[in-house]
Amino acid sequence: MSKITVVGAGNVGATVANVLSMGDVVKEVVLLDIKGDFAKGKALDTWEQAPINYSSTFCRGTDNYEDTAGSDIVVITAGIPRKPGMSRDDLISTNAGIVTEVTKSVLQYSDNPIIIVVSNPLDVMTYAAFEAAGLDSSRVFGMAGILDTARYRAFLSEALKVSPKDIQAILLGGHGDTMVPLPRYTTVSGIPVTELIDLKVLDQIIERTKKGGGELVQLMGTSAWYAPGAGAAQMVECIVKDENRIFPCCAKLNGQYGLGDLFIGVPVKLGKEGIKEIIELDLNEGEMQLMHNSAGHVREVIDVFKNMS
Ligand code: NAI
Ligand code: 2OP
Repeated sequence: MSKITVVGAGNVGATVANVLSMGDVVKEVVLLDIKGDFAKGKALDTWEQAPINYSSTFCRGTDNYEDTAGSDIVVITAGIPRKPGMSRDDLISTNAGIVTEVTKSVLQYSDNPIIIVVSNPLDVMTYAAFEAAGLDSSRVFGMAGILDTARYRAFLSEALKVSPKDIQAILLGGHGDTMVPLPRYTTVSGIPVTELIDLKVLDQIIERTKKGGGELVQLMGTSAWYAPGAGAAQMVECIVKDENRIFPCCAKLNGQYGLGDLFIGVPVKLGKEGIKEIIELDLNEGEMQLMHNSAGHVREVIDVFKNMS
């Protein structure tokens, strides 16, 4: 059983803590926020839900990093979210400072944790956490691909009138409008999706997926939290149970896909030690071009971050 710290007790962080606690797969969840009472309240509310959901996971709120000591996994959700009219990249200067400070603080009390970054702009915040942590890149990665593929799968499920459970998909690239959903690697219970759906409808779904975060910001005035929180919790569970599942995650590339020195979404095998393998798909020319276009955008934002530091 494991100790998990979630930094940031806002919409996403509190959801991660709640989903993990109700899943009953870890011993303890520590929810830390600069707003200490807010974190304590969210954690207490979650702990009080445990008897109803028949869970033993203890959830504790705090603003003191000492309480995070000995964490096996740290999920970073601290930062500001988007408001209507903002892109994820607009968050960079504020969130880079927060993610760097949080990473350093966490490492004062936990030796070699696995760090999962959620704060936006995701690909660059993961890079910032990696730089601040000095850990192996197999132990620092980001959550976005699970969310983006979940949106894609949900939209396909509606269009095809089949359960989302049966839709398998992978996507590549940065967490933004340049992300690369891959119809060639999308199946419905093993049947290629291209055999089941009108290609125009598929294109519309891909476009909706790319703008899926913005759709929710427009509706709610802030960004999403249920699906993002569940996505990060699913990564934690996979690591704790050493499940070796294949998820799209934001990982450091060292030559895969002809790219290096950046964090970007790719399929990885996830287990006890973090990323066990980066899976290199045999992309066709068009897919590779889209991946490199997305990487170009991620690099532009990394350069903004590097010039700030
Ligand atoms: P929120 O505003 O509800 O919560 C953020 C929390 O971080 C606040 O409670 C705030 O007090 C806390 N915080 C700020 N500075 C801190 C610090 N130095 N130490 C500890 N806590 C600190 O925001 P929300 O909606 O939870 O989003 C959090 C982040 O996650 C945003 O950057 C958002 O863009 C990102 N996000 C990423 C997704 C992804 O797929 N990777 C999906 C959804 C959101
Ligand atoms: C999302 O995609 C804003 O990254 C966040 O919902």
